[in-house]
Amino acid sequence: MRSAIHSASAAVALAAAVAITAVTPAAAAETPDPAADARAFQKFFTEKFPKVKLQDFVNGPYSMNADMHRQWEEKEQFPPYDFSLEAGKEMFAKPFKNGKSYADCFPNQGIGIRQNYPYFDEKEGKVVTLELALNRCREGNGEAPFSYLKDEMAALTAYMAFTSRGKPFDIKIPNDPRALEAYENGKRYFYTRRGQLNFSCASCHVQNPGERIRAEVLAPALGILNAMPIYRSEWGGMGTISRRFTTCNSQIRGVPLEPQADEYRDVEYYLSYLSNGLPISGPGARP
Ligand code: HEC
Repeated sequence: MRSAIHSASAAVALAAAVAITAVTPAAAAETPDPAADARAFQKFFTEKFPKVKLQDFVNGPYSMNADMHRQWEEKEQFPPYDFSLEAGKEMFAKPFKNGKSYADCFPNQGIGIRQNYPYFDEKEGKVVTLELALNRCREGNGEAPFSYLKDEMAALTAYMAFTSRGKPFDIKIPNDPRALEAYENGKRYFYTRRGQLNFSCASCHVQNPGERIRAEVLAPALGILNAMPIYRSEWGGMGTISRRFTTCNSQIRGVPLEPQADEYRDVEYYLSYLSNGLPISGPGARP
């Protein structure tokens, strides 16, 4: 992708496409109303892509294009994320030096719970993502945290996602003004333009899903986190949500935030909430 919007012409074409798209699902609400946002968001995408079933939006670029869908089905017979899934399963089962394990840090021993993350932690007053919870589990047990961008974190989240496959996202916004604020901050982050190219997340993933930036077909924002983490042929390996967010910020020649910065936690909360009802399908594979 580094090269994808390299060419000024692609960027200009995209900017033009963005400029003529007047109505966005964000334009609607004035008083915060996440439930109404989610309905409007799902309606926007299902009307824009009447042939794509609601559940299929979790397949990202593959949901947008029949040819790509076929290639992907072939690929799924020998999924390229299998090695990561296996590694994650082993890592998850292996006790820490103190004898405890990941299972001790999570509800239901960590099995089948991916759809509940991120959640708003009322004690801390902040959003807690699965990646963050995993590192806190490690640190709480005297282990060094993993990089948010690298293979170990991808493997652990791949395994946890796998145990939740088919379960619909079930993100809650508790009755706490700080939770609503986190959601609204995530929403603002998603629609704010930034970087030298002056794009928001929405410029690409709401206004132009299905369009190509060079070789890549843009994924729709609905269901965009359900398949994470993903194996990308272009990366030659796995990527976490943190890796994807920072990559998307670099693509617009912006300065990425630190992984798990409040803004990233909030935007993950926002996007996951909007995909409530759509099944977890991770780990995924992408071109
Ligand atoms: C210049 C366009 C562009 C912008 C702006 C952009 N992205 Fe992306 N994003 C991409 C491309 C290209 C990909 C890889 C192809 C695809 O899956 O869409 C991608 C992939 C993703 C994925 C993985 C989707 C999947 O199914 O593989 C997520 C999640 C994501 N972006 C989130 C974000 C967020 C959050 C922001 C704002 C911080 C953002 N993106 C801004 C271009 C963009």
